[in-house]
Amino acid sequence: MIEEEIVEYYKLLYLRGLSTLLSGNISVRSGDLILITPTSLPKPLLRPEDLVYIDFEGRVVKGTRQPSSEWRMHAAVYRRRPDVGAIVHVHPVHSTLLAERIKPDLFLEGDIYIGGPLAVVPPLQPGTWELAEAVADALARANVAVLKKHGVVAVGRSLAEAVNRVEVVEDLAKATLINLWINSGI
Ligand code: 13P
Repeated sequence: MIEEEIVEYYKLLYLRGLSTLLSGNISVRSGDLILITPTSLPKPLLRPEDLVYIDFEGRVVKGTRQPSSEWRMHAAVYRRRPDVGAIVHVHPVHSTLLAERIKPDLFLEGDIYIGGPLAVVPPLQPGTWELAEAVADALARANVAVLKKHGVVAVGRSLAEAVNRVEVVEDLAKATLINLWINSGI
């Protein structure tokens, strides 16, 4: 069941230190609807029944919780990218701080996994249409966007692909820092 998959993947992301207890959100496309994590609950402790189905206007169609405050961002990205089946938004520290300074060519497989350029979005108020449209614009030609002072959004055809992209970008951000230390001669 896809609800169980989302819950399990969230635990993995949290245990890898890619998000704090309450932050982040995940969704998958489900026909004309979006299955999304609820807002403001401890995300690694979610149960499958906590997830909600919403339409593209944010109305809850199935489920008892309130949808993520970032539902606009998820809806805007799905509208812009018909090929996208899953969206992961988390708050990894290294990627968020390094943003455009991340060097995707440090790992031979970096570019392959990310499958395009790394987009960067300026700091914008979370939960707004302004952020949603900026992220959708950035992801029109990219699979990963770093939101400055906020976090990372990765898309994929599947949830596994989107989750892996978040992991790869954070590893590349750490590698970028290590590379700087090596090259500084310490
Ligand atoms: P939600 O709990 O509303 O999904 O918000 C978390 C978050 O990270 C906002 O950017």
